[in-house]
Amino acid sequence: MTTLFINGSPRKHGNTATLGTRLLRDLDHTTIHLTDYRLNFEQDQRETNRPQVDRSDDFESLMALVRANDTLVLGTPVYWYGMTGQLKVFMDRWFDSYTANFPFANKRIYLLVVGADQPETKATGITQSVRDSCEWLQMDFRGTVTVTADAADDVANLSQLPATFARIRNEIGRQLE
Ligand SMILES: Cc1cc2nc3c(=O)[nH]c(=O)nc-3n(C[C@H](O)[C@H](O)[C@H](O)COP(=O)(O)O)c2cc1C
Repeated sequence: MTTLFINGSPRKHGNTATLGTRLLRDLDHTTIHLTDYRLNFEQDQRETNRPQVDRSDDFESLMALVRANDTLVLGTPVYWYGMTGQLKVFMDRWFDSYTANFPFANKRIYLLVVGADQPETKATGITQSVRDSCEWLQMDFRGTVTVTADAADDVANLSQLPATFARIRNEIGRQLE
């Protein structure tokens, strides 16, 4: 089993990145930051004669990494009570892969959400959209860790993390045994 942490924050050393690092500490994994990749907006080609594909950016190289890993940890800060544009655009582009029969089925998906303003109650839409997208793509959504934090080093300084953090860390650890 292999694990890919996809950080959807523009801060490469911020709270989402740190939460992913803490979750996967000493567990074999690869980390990528979407901000390091060029991604175009999704184009809906369904009513045209053009193929549902865009090879002019870094999307295919990102999907090669997704293909190579059984477990994905998606991380996002809360931006305007939703996920960041980086993660949204990346997930929008999954439609291209779906159209090309990409093997999404059975990949395990975990979600990390970090926000400043009561994300446990005000950012639940992020989990809802990721869970429903996973169901549509036949992926196995395994849960969310939601943490309240704002300044870039807040998560690094948190001594206590939610119970879901330990549950998910143990689960990923067991998969790697
Ligand atoms: C553009 C922008 C929009 C934000 N919108 C929200 C929001 O709607 N709700 C919230 O709880 N926090 C919001 N925040 C705060 C971030 O979620 C918070 O600072 C988070 O810890 C950042 O994570 P990061 O360090 O991984 O980037 C926003 C921050 C920015 C920069």
